[in-house]
Amino acid sequence: MDAKTLLKERRSIRKFKKDKVNRELMNDIIELSKYAPSWANYQIARYTIIDNPEIIKQIASEGVKGFVYNISTLQEASGVAVISYVKGKSGSLDKYGLANSSKNPWEVFDAGIATHQFCLSAYAYGVGSVVMGVIDDIEIARIINLPEDETVAALVVYGYEESHPKPTPRKEVKEITRFL
Ligand SMILES: Cc1cc2nc3c(=O)[nH]c(=O)nc-3n(C[C@H](O)[C@H](O)[C@H](O)COP(=O)(O)O)c2cc1C
Repeated sequence: MDAKTLLKERRSIRKFKKDKVNRELMNDIIELSKYAPSWANYQIARYTIIDNPEIIKQIASEGVKGFVYNISTLQEASGVAVISYVKGKSGSLDKYGLANSSKNPWEVFDAGIATHQFCLSAYAYGVGSVVMGVIDDIEIARIINLPEDETVAALVVYGYEESHPKPTPRKEVKEITRFL
């Protein structure tokens, strides 16, 4: 698949085949994901890959705030990746004593880039996925026993696509672009 097709045709997938994506392939996907850019190349994103149905069930019942839409996607899932990040690094340049403004959006920014690169990498390997933002980050951290120095950014539910959805609508370039 060429890069343009990859970028244009990746879709959020919410219905999956029963087949599991094996751990070796998940390693390959993370091997590609790790080339995402990050603040000062700190590489703060972490990937917890869950293919244990009991833990996925627990995330569905306790980790998505009872949002039925996400619960039903999780019931279909063959796997779930929890994307987390190491706190307190991005946004500062220790060597130079520089820090970003008091709020630190850069760690979340890094996690977002990493998440999308994970989804694109999965698609490049024939694996479908959907990002979930309607989640309970605290509950998920508890369920997966996340290290104290990390925060949950997003869930990515993944698996082999049952079918490929039609394109989702996008705004016209002229609506979202300014040239000066
Ligand atoms: C930050 C973020 C949070 C999202 N949260 C959810 C979610 O909780 N549940 C869901 O089904 N889809 C979720 N999505 C998927 C979007 O609905 C989807 O990307 C959008 O409708 C465009 O469709 P496409 O990904 O197929 O192009 C999320 C996407 C992003 C980037």
